Amino acid sequence: MAIIDKEIQSQVEKRRTFAIISHPDAGKTTLTEKLLLFGGAIRMAGEVKRRKAKKFATSDWMQIEKERGISVTSSAMQFKYKEHHINILDTPGHQDFSEDTYRTLTAADSAVMLIDAAKGVETQTIKLFKVCSKRDIPIFTFINKMDRYGKDPLDLLEELEQVLGIRSCPMNWPIGMGDDFCGIYDRQNNRIELYKKDGQRDFLCPDERGLKDPSIGNIIGDSRYNKLCEDIDLLDIAGDPFDEEKINQGKLTPVYFGSAISKFGVQTFLDEFLQLAPAPHTHMSSIGPIDTVKTAFSGFIFKIQANMNPAHRDRIAFLRVCSGKFERGMAVNHVRSGKKIKLAQPQQFLAQYRDIVDVAYPGDIIGLHDPGTFHIGDTLCAEGNFEFERLPQFPPEHFARVINLNAMKYKQFQKGTNELVEEGTVQVFRTTDRTEDLIIGVVGELQFDVFTHRLKGEYGADIRLQQLPYHLARWVGSNTQIDASKLTNLSSLCVTDQNGHIVVLCQSESTLEWLEEQNSDLTFYANPYALDSNYH
Ligand code: G4P
Repeated sequence: MAIIDKEIQSQVEKRRTFAIISHPDAGKTTLTEKLLLFGGAIRMAGEVKRRKAKKFATSDWMQIEKERGISVTSSAMQFKYKEHHINILDTPGHQDFSEDTYRTLTAADSAVMLIDAAKGVETQTIKLFKVCSKRDIPIFTFINKMDRYGKDPLDLLEELEQVLGIRSCPMNWPIGMGDDFCGIYDRQNNRIELYKKDGQRDFLCPDERGLKDPSIGNIIGDSRYNKLCEDIDLLDIAGDPFDEEKINQGKLTPVYFGSAISKFGVQTFLDEFLQLAPAPHTHMSSIGPIDTVKTAFSGFIFKIQANMNPAHRDRIAFLRVCSGKFERGMAVNHVRSGKKIKLAQPQQFLAQYRDIVDVAYPGDIIGLHDPGTFHIGDTLCAEGNFEFERLPQFPPEHFARVINLNAMKYKQFQKGTNELVEEGTVQVFRTTDRTEDLIIGVVGELQFDVFTHRLKGEYGADIRLQQLPYHLARWVGSNTQIDASKLTNLSSLCVTDQNGHIVVLCQSESTLEWLEEQNSDLTFYANPYALDSNYH
C-alpha cells in the first residue's frame, strides 16, 4: 500500500460522521454540549445552550438572521475525542425544520436518535428516522431524562418497534427512574454505573456471578435489585440479542439509557458508539462504488447557505468528503459544469469557530466559498468525472402563492427567488392557467418567513404570501398528454414544477385517493425522480 493510502486509511478509520436526530426539547443541545465537553472543544457547560437561547429566544426572523453566523457554524462540528475525529451534523429540529434538515442526513454515516423517556417517539423523530432508515444507516438510540419519571422502559422498546418498525437491543438497563433512579446496568460489560447528579462516574462491578452477586442488593436496595434481575431475565429470554451485522444494516438499534443534563451515561454511550459506529465507507456513484482510500479526492455538496455573514454577503457550500485526501488550494473537476476549479479558502467548523482547513479526509465536512458555482448534489473530484448518487428531494407540505409587491424590483425578486431555490430553502411551482402564478412549497412553515425576510433583507424585494390549503404534492406520470383541468377542483390544484413536470397539490390524502380513482390512467408519485426512468 502506498504511503499516502496508508495515511488516508488510518485517518478514515479514526473518523465518525453522524447526525443527532430528535424532536425539539428531547435534549439534543444538552447532549451535543456534553459530547463537545468530553472532546475538549468547549470548556464550560452552557456555551452551546446560551447560543441556542440567543437564537431561539425570539420568533423574529430578523433577529435569528443576525445570529446566522452562529447558527450556521453549528451545521457541522468537528472535534477530537481520544483517537477519534468526530463530525457531528446538525439537523435543526425546531421551527426551522426544513428540507435542508433532511438533506443533511445524506452526509451522515450513522445517526444517534435521542428520545425523551417521558414522551417516547415523537413526530419530528419519526420523519427524520424515516430518512435515515431509507439509507439503511446504523441508528443508535439514547433514551434521555431518566432522572425524571417517564414511560416504562419496556414500553419504550415496544414503541420503537411499533411506531418506527425497528427492533432494539438494550445495551444497558435503567435501575429505577425519576427520584428513584439509581443507575444503569451495563449488559455488555456486566457492571453498574451508579447515578451521580454531579456528573462524576462511579462503577459497581459485580463478582464473577454477575447479577447473581448478592452484594448488589445491599448497595442498590433489595426491591430495585429484584426488579432489575426480573427485567434482565426477561430481556435475555425475549429480547433481541446484540447483532453487529444487523446494527450495521440499520435493522437493529442498540439502546442506551441516560441523563444528558448530568452527563450520566453519556461517556459510556460515546465510547461504545465510537466502537460500533461505522467509519466512512464507499459512496455509490455513476461509475459504481467509490472507495474512500483508493480514489483520489472526491465529495458532494449537500447544503448551500447564502449570506452566512451579512457583512460579507458570502455563500458557503458544504461538502462531504467521500474519498482521498483534500488539500487546500487543490484544483478539482466540477463535474456538472465540466470546469476545473481551485478550492482556495476551505473552512472547517469547530464548535462556534470557523477555521481555514489545510487538509481533510473522508467523513469530514468542509465549507467552500461559493460565487454561485455550486448546486446541491454537485460532485467535485480530483480525477475523473463521475457523479455521486442524486440527493433525495423531499415533498413540500405547505404551499403559498407569492405576490410581488413592487413591479420595479422584479429583477431582484427573480434573482432572490432563483438563489433561494438553488439553496433549497423553497421549491417553486407555477399554476397551469393563463396567469402562471408563482407558488412556493416548503417542508416546514417557518421557511415562509425565512423566504419573505431574506428576499427583502438580501435582495430588496417585497412580497406577500397567500397561504394555500394544500398539504400534499404528487408528481403525475402519464404516457399521454395530461389534461390539467381534470386535476384541479375545490380541493386540489394542478401546477408545474421548475422542470415543467405536472404536479398536483392536494388538501388531504382523501383528495388524492379520489383523484387516483378518477384518473386511473395517471400515476401519482411522491418524488419527481420517480418520473425519470433512469433513476434507480
Ligand atoms: P433540544 O436541543 O432537543 O431542543 O433540547 P435541549 O437540550 O434544549 O433540552 C430541552 C430541555 O430539556 C431543557 O430544559 C434541558 O435542560 C432539559 N434536559 C435535557 N436533558 C435532560 C435530562 O437528562 N434530564 C432532565 N431532567 N432535563 C433534561 P429547559 O427547561 O427547556 O431549559 P433550561 O432552563 O434547562 O436551559
